[in-house]
Amino acid sequence: MSILEIKNLNLAFHSNGRDYQALHDINLKLEKGEMLAIVGESGCGKTITAMSVLRLLASNAKILSGEIFYKGQNLLSLTEKQMQNIRGREISLVPQDPMISLNPLYTIGSQLLEVIEIHQNLKGSEAKKRAVEALEQVKIPNAKERLNSYPHEFSGGMRQRVIIAMAIACKSEIIIADEPTTALDVTVQAQIMELIKEIQKSEGTSFIFISHDFGLVYEASDKTAVMYGGHVVENADSYEIFKNPKHPYTQALIKALPDFNTRQLEAIEGYPPSIKDYFSGCPFEPRCPKKMDICKNGFPPVCKTENSFVWCYLYK
Ligand SMILES: Nc1ncnc2c1ncn2[C@@H]1O[C@H](COP(=O)(O)OP(=O)(O)OP(=O)(O)O)[C@@H](O)[C@H]1O
Ligand SMILES: [Mg+2]
Repeated sequence: MSILEIKNLNLAFHSNGRDYQALHDINLKLEKGEMLAIVGESGCGKTITAMSVLRLLASNAKILSGEIFYKGQNLLSLTEKQMQNIRGREISLVPQDPMISLNPLYTIGSQLLEVIEIHQNLKGSEAKKRAVEALEQVKIPNAKERLNSYPHEFSGGMRQRVIIAMAIACKSEIIIADEPTTALDVTVQAQIMELIKEIQKSEGTSFIFISHDFGLVYEASDKTAVMYGGHVVENADSYEIFKNPKHPYTQALIKALPDFNTRQLEAIEGYPPSIKDYFSGCPFEPRCPKKMDICKNGFPPVCKTENSFVWCYLYK
């Protein structure tokens, strides 16, 4: 059994008196200890997919149908109280901006101790010991002294480490990292990626890593789901996707990566769709270099190729 399985998730937002569908039949699986990358351009639905798992959606969001199984129980059928026991404890979030999760008025130590006391039922010196261990695990120097620092005394990369430390201290089974390195410079980005890989190995934590940058995640992740216009359009082992992309959108994403030899990159022409755009067929059709007449006839059915799942008429 997968540790997490999203099944046929459909989600809409209510705005100006009507519903706009933002996620269409999302199916994803995360295995224990695995890292699943979700990639795609801005607005394709990466964050709302993740937030559906944590049930932290905006008030105008409506899950139309679907199930999200965590260790076999459907998170969408839990009460808010039951969800509070899952969030932060079993499934943690590392957001793009760590200041969303950190309170600027309290020290790192008091915030770390709070989550440890709530989620791990430890008190006093035992809780403090766990806090120091967690900071050491994410390689914060002088961990004991740094407990007394405030978030603003930490750099962006260090703050992200603190958030990861909170998840480790609570022994979270799944960490969802939503573009956790986008605001960081390239060197720090690489250090955080390395740290995440280490934790995945040493703790057996499962990760969902969201990024618009396929170049950042393809080596670190085990599987990749490529999203476009609220759909998953390709899903396979990351190496396979990188070496042998099937969907024309995935091919375009890979061509858009900078090539260190030629220093060339090919931008994808046009813009990704908004949830207010209506498509009778594949949402990538207007930008697709390989489009055919059939592509306007409904969203393509899933095609199982040798090593991947792809939603494209080319493989039908
Ligand atoms: N509360 C909301 N009301 C209406 N539309 C929304 C709301 N939240 C998100 N959306 C829309 O849903 C779509 C998916 O948003 P989402 O935040 O998941 O994109 P994303 O893939 O994470 O993009 P980015 O890379 O920019 O973070 C977007 O078109 C967005 O405008
Ligand atoms: Mg996002």
